[in-house]
Amino acid sequence: MAAPEKNIPTIFVAFGATGDLMRRKVLPALLYAYKNKELPSMFRVIGFSRREWSDEEFQGYVRGVLEEHADKSMKDAELEPFLKLFKFQKGTFEDAGSYQELKKTFDVCDAQWGVCSNKLFYLSVPPEHYETILRHLSDSGLTDPCDVDEGWTRVIVEKPFGMNSSTAKEIDMLMGKLFKEEQIYRIDHYLAKEMLQNILTFRFANNLFEIPWGTELIESIRIRLLEELGVEKRGAFYDSVGALRDVGQNHLLQMLALVTMEQPANFGANGIQQKRADILEKLHVPSARDMQKTTFRAQYEGYRRVEGVQSDSQTETYFKVRATLDHPRWKGVPIYMESGKRLGEPLKEIVVTFKHPSPCLCPPDGPHHKNEVIFRMEPREEVLIEFWSKKPGFAFATERREFHYLLRETGARVQYVEEYAKLLLDCIRGDQTLFVSTREIRAMWRFTDPIIEAWEHNAVPLETYAPDTKNILEKANTIG
Ligand code: BG6
Repeated sequence: MAAPEKNIPTIFVAFGATGDLMRRKVLPALLYAYKNKELPSMFRVIGFSRREWSDEEFQGYVRGVLEEHADKSMKDAELEPFLKLFKFQKGTFEDAGSYQELKKTFDVCDAQWGVCSNKLFYLSVPPEHYETILRHLSDSGLTDPCDVDEGWTRVIVEKPFGMNSSTAKEIDMLMGKLFKEEQIYRIDHYLAKEMLQNILTFRFANNLFEIPWGTELIESIRIRLLEELGVEKRGAFYDSVGALRDVGQNHLLQMLALVTMEQPANFGANGIQQKRADILEKLHVPSARDMQKTTFRAQYEGYRRVEGVQSDSQTETYFKVRATLDHPRWKGVPIYMESGKRLGEPLKEIVVTFKHPSPCLCPPDGPHHKNEVIFRMEPREEVLIEFWSKKPGFAFATERREFHYLLRETGARVQYVEEYAKLLLDCIRGDQTLFVSTREIRAMWRFTDPIIEAWEHNAVPLETYAPDTKNILEKANTIG
């Protein structure tokens, strides 16, 4: 892989500079990239918002956010040069004049640097503002590059990409009309997780596993994203989407894609994105008749009392879905996807279970075993390969053993920071590998649409569970 290019003069514009995404994800990630000396040497962040702020006031705000959400070990003197990268631009999303003002700010900066810099527009706003901002960006000429290979412009958007296939298609068509696909960067931060990036290395750099990887030897795959956290301060947003849209339609399906996709012809962005999309398009769309057998949903007790949540909310905070792929390699292999909030100790992993060997060199009355390969992200980032071995001694007996690769304890990372830093830097460098393509989005909604619809019609009862326990997992085992 080429060494990262550092000298890419870039202006990063954040619409909704004081929004939640900026606070929790982008600002800590930018600081992390800065501390790791990965930001371009000419770099500026312009916060765009309706407030009446000076640059200094905005920098004071950024400092406050970083004190709350990021590494607190940084001394004031170290933070100072980072804060100087921040400028403020007062403006409203609807006002064409605000975009002209932005252009003037770009010109001042470019004149200082003596280049036509690249421009990166990050939409840290709820999706209902996308259309207004994107149209203005395009109409004002701000997203036109200076020349064919000078001053590129890119737009970053966040999930959820719509609420279902048809709303996703609307956003997609709009973006497709205004920009080229290579200008659009759609974030799913799970793709940037170390352990998930490692799945492709594990599979495609080691022949050892890729050969048995499929229905002949694999019995099932379990993908779990079990969270300790509740919905915290995101009640209103979460209640309008639910667990399946929040993490199932994106993070869990991306994990499914990584673990089941075919080997790409090349490991460039196109090769990988294409193979992820190919396998997602093979998801068997569940029929209304199968919903009760293949899906399960529940809500934790007390959820309805969270601020912003409807008092009679039918939104699921936990789900389990059994999926299959209409693909010869995966014929008949069930893939379970499961996620929920307030489930006690976090557990985020993919467990690949192999079939029982036959015949088996197992003691006739001993424990019968199945090998497992586990990619775990929490509570520790590790890969485990479970197998059985002869117990040392005179008698023939087997015991369970594991090969273990520990990347690190999860406590060593702060939520979102590393993933967002990786994504923002990849976007600056023009690498779309870890971003979601429009084909993937379509395929993911195609699978989730009928489930959401069936749940909205109460075709599957909404169960409840006691928060901070894993009791519901057993109940959900009715679907496998
Ligand atoms: C986000 C969801 O996309 O992912 C959150 O909106 C969820 O509800 C989070 O908590 C989980 O991410 P991570 O990286 O902490 O596993």
